[in-house]
Amino acid sequence: MAGVPSVAYPRIHLMCGIVGYVGDKSTIDVLLGGLRRLEYRGYDSAGVAVIDSEGHLSTRKHAGKLQVLVDDLANTPIPQGATGIGHTRWATHGGPTDENAHPHLGDDGKLALIHNGIIENFQELKATLLRDHPETEFTSETDTEVAAHMVGYAYRATKNLTAAMREVVSKLHGAFTLLAVHSDQPGVVVGARRNSPLVIGLGDGENFLGSDVAAFVEHTRRALAIGQDQIVTITPTEVVVTDFGGNTVPTEEFEVTWDASAAEKGGWSSFMAKEITEQPEAIANTLLGRVVDGKVNLPELAALDETLGKIDRLIILGCGTASYAGMVGKYAIERWARIPVEVDLSHEFRYREPVLDDRTLVVSISQSGETMDTLMAVKYATAAGAKTLSICNTQGATIARESDAVIYTHAGPEVAVASTKALVAQVTAIYLLGLHLASIRGTLSAEEIRTQLEDLQEAPDKLRTVLEQHDEIRELAHWMSDTRSVLFLGRHVGFPVALEGALKLKELAYIHAEGFAAGELKHGPIALIEPGQPVFVVVPSPRGTDSMHPKIVSNIQEIRARGARVLAIAEVGDAAVLPFADQVFAIPPSSTFIEPLLAFVPLQIFAMELAAAKGLDVDQPRNLAKSVTVE
Ligand code: F6R
Repeated sequence: MAGVPSVAYPRIHLMCGIVGYVGDKSTIDVLLGGLRRLEYRGYDSAGVAVIDSEGHLSTRKHAGKLQVLVDDLANTPIPQGATGIGHTRWATHGGPTDENAHPHLGDDGKLALIHNGIIENFQELKATLLRDHPETEFTSETDTEVAAHMVGYAYRATKNLTAAMREVVSKLHGAFTLLAVHSDQPGVVVGARRNSPLVIGLGDGENFLGSDVAAFVEHTRRALAIGQDQIVTITPTEVVVTDFGGNTVPTEEFEVTWDASAAEKGGWSSFMAKEITEQPEAIANTLLGRVVDGKVNLPELAALDETLGKIDRLIILGCGTASYAGMVGKYAIERWARIPVEVDLSHEFRYREPVLDDRTLVVSISQSGETMDTLMAVKYATAAGAKTLSICNTQGATIARESDAVIYTHAGPEVAVASTKALVAQVTAIYLLGLHLASIRGTLSAEEIRTQLEDLQEAPDKLRTVLEQHDEIRELAHWMSDTRSVLFLGRHVGFPVALEGALKLKELAYIHAEGFAAGELKHGPIALIEPGQPVFVVVPSPRGTDSMHPKIVSNIQEIRARGARVLAIAEVGDAAVLPFADQVFAIPPSSTFIEPLLAFVPLQIFAMELAAAKGLDVDQPRNLAKSVTVE
């Protein structure tokens, strides 16, 4: 494929949560607390390893949710110690069994190792191991166990865990974060990363490692981001980061702005319920400090100053819900900044040989900042000469670090697997970008920009009034809990809202759901309408200038005439919709681009409540993980 930049792409990848600790707190409590916050990354098995004060290594691991491990440790505790590692797994390689759960052992049970990623050449490595050490016994089907034995044998030779890790990582192909402890070296945890996340938490007389800052935010707000192909050794008083060659490398300290309590469920029935109600704050916090005197203030874009003046095209990338934020952004940026915008799914973008140059700005959107498809798309864009900007919610995340600039959304930690508050924060951030571009390009007057920003600043209060309809939506959801199929229609910015409503229902309630651009109805989907078919319709304001309202009202009439049950999300008091809708969820009057921020919310609540009515786990839907680090 001539002209296509080559970016190494790990084929497949475990999505797991990793935590490491050295210090004088109860290590088990620190590890389990960290795993609880990371469980969204994977939740089909979990395990810990701790070195006690006598220098013995104990491990415990179980298939099933973290709670299985927590209960077992409560019934039969393992000895306390000052050094430990913990893991929560989302299996793609070797089923979710006790045996395949991490940690895995090496050096006759003196070394424990956990892993996020996949070691692509593990079969060859295993063959070499068995040739050189035929006595090696394998107890699992995992690639991780091969690495554990390799580091174990390397330790025997070097008597130094860091050196052993360094020797082994150079032989591994694929993507990995590895953490290891050895009972001969209490007070030391060694980590290594390639294409898989790892951050360091800096404490006083204690230090932490985690897949992301949620792992340790309860204990410290000081964090260090580490780069690809680096090894870190932590002791209670020291953190040393080197490259795979052993050379010391500079690190970047940052302060975690997330509040530890923000990652707690509090009194809520689920993280998702909590996060849905946090959406007004997610918008307000994303705007905080970024609107000054009626103008957009985004100093984080300084690195792109030159680029923004000359770009002639934007490509927005994301997956799932993040891609819908991008779709909403496309409508706004094209309208405001008069610049062509394409929106692509990260995984489609990378393989379609996109045409890119230095006049293209590639904007990636990712809550986690770790989604492998998006990360590799960003790398691809950079290799092809485009400038990259990311919109991320997780500080120090890999996508943020790989981009030329980052606008952080300040939604706070999103724990529920299904994205809610991150989405409204992403839309807010992309609006800020659109208005900033409009200002640079002179496509909107200062007054128009001020008005749009004022609208945005009013959005949190409007959203609060939408949240007040929770009980009503719950009632509908309970009533519809046997429904087998739901359709969603929208036009313009209501189209991505329809897509998002369908995605939420699929992933949470396991119900067939589809979103359509309402204009497409007559081109096929209307054949699906039969008596009783529930259809959510996202209705724009009748006062809008886009003349979309009459068109959607005709769409409602068309489906209603064929027996559809119409569930409308419409502006309060919209008299044209009332006669044709079986139920209306009202959103306050607002301008075109504020509407999606409000209209997402009833659909989120509906999907969550319908899943709850079916007795499903809304925070951890089946087969999913929050950080999708799989191709
Ligand atoms: C759906 C959902 C996913 C994510 C997608 C991207 O509720 O959460 O569709 O939006 O996996 O994840 P991030 O934003 O972390 O890149």
